[in-house]
Amino acid sequence: MNNNEKFRVYDYDIPEQAEEAWDKLANWYSARKKGSYEFKIQLPAILNLLGNLHGKSLIDIGCGPGNYSVEFAKRGANVLGIDLSQKMLDKARNNAKMADVKLTLQKADAHLIRYPDNSFDIAVIILAILNEKIIKEAARVLKPGGLLLISDTHPTLEAKGHWKSNKIGTPRIIEDYFSREKKKWQINYDTEHTITLEYYTQTIEQSVNMIADAGFKILRIVEPKPRKDLKKNDPRHYDKCSRIPYFIIYLTQKHM
Ligand SMILES: C[S@@+](CC[C@H](N)C(=O)[O-])C[C@H]1O[C@@H](n2cnc3c(N)ncnc32)[C@H](O)[C@@H]1O
Repeated sequence: MNNNEKFRVYDYDIPEQAEEAWDKLANWYSARKKGSYEFKIQLPAILNLLGNLHGKSLIDIGCGPGNYSVEFAKRGANVLGIDLSQKMLDKARNNAKMADVKLTLQKADAHLIRYPDNSFDIAVIILAILNEKIIKEAARVLKPGGLLLISDTHPTLEAKGHWKSNKIGTPRIIEDYFSREKKKWQINYDTEHTITLEYYTQTIEQSVNMIADAGFKILRIVEPKPRKDLKKNDPRHYDKCSRIPYFIIYLTQKHM
């Protein structure tokens, strides 16, 4: 029997739902992340935008299994990873151990970061919760002139629509970019269990205005494309991600 549970994961009034959902998904997400097309596409672009990390204090908000935190620590950053899900933090601890790097990990809700104002040089939010309250909280804990990097699923990929077929070279049809309908992501995380995550996404206009309203200047926007090596390992995603942007990365700076 397949057990299907629904969770609203992007509303800040009910973080308990996100915590329960991500605890259940931690094994599945962590196994999928390693070597995934999304990691291979985002990581080089993120590192390139952040530049020299040596000696920088960095907070990874919604760090999940810590794959990015580990990469930042390998490059000399002092990394704090926060996440609502203890199971995700356990994965991050294990990943840090395997890579032989030190991470500070804290179970916390990103809406209430338990650090004083002006604590960090850099904050990152990668495929995690994005709303006004969290961006303002990131602004509070960043030093003046500090960097906030946000990597999100691209709004054209999230827009209401569908792929015309499953074949390589097939177009994605966008039916309604501005639709405010709830999105659903159905995940069969093991043979017996399915979780449906329900969430809302932002248009580019909404994200940019939210970032500006929280006191950040946008320095760069990058829509990363896959490198050639993905073509061999994952030709389907290489094809799709070369033609349609899957991610959008905002590099922003807190005002001095
Ligand atoms: C899609 S995963 C992304 C993880 C990681 N950043 C990555 O890209 O691999 C989203 C993560 O955000 C965390 N999360 C969701 N809501 C949160 C909140 N309110 N506070 C802290 N973490 C949260 C989840 O537990 C989950 O680990």
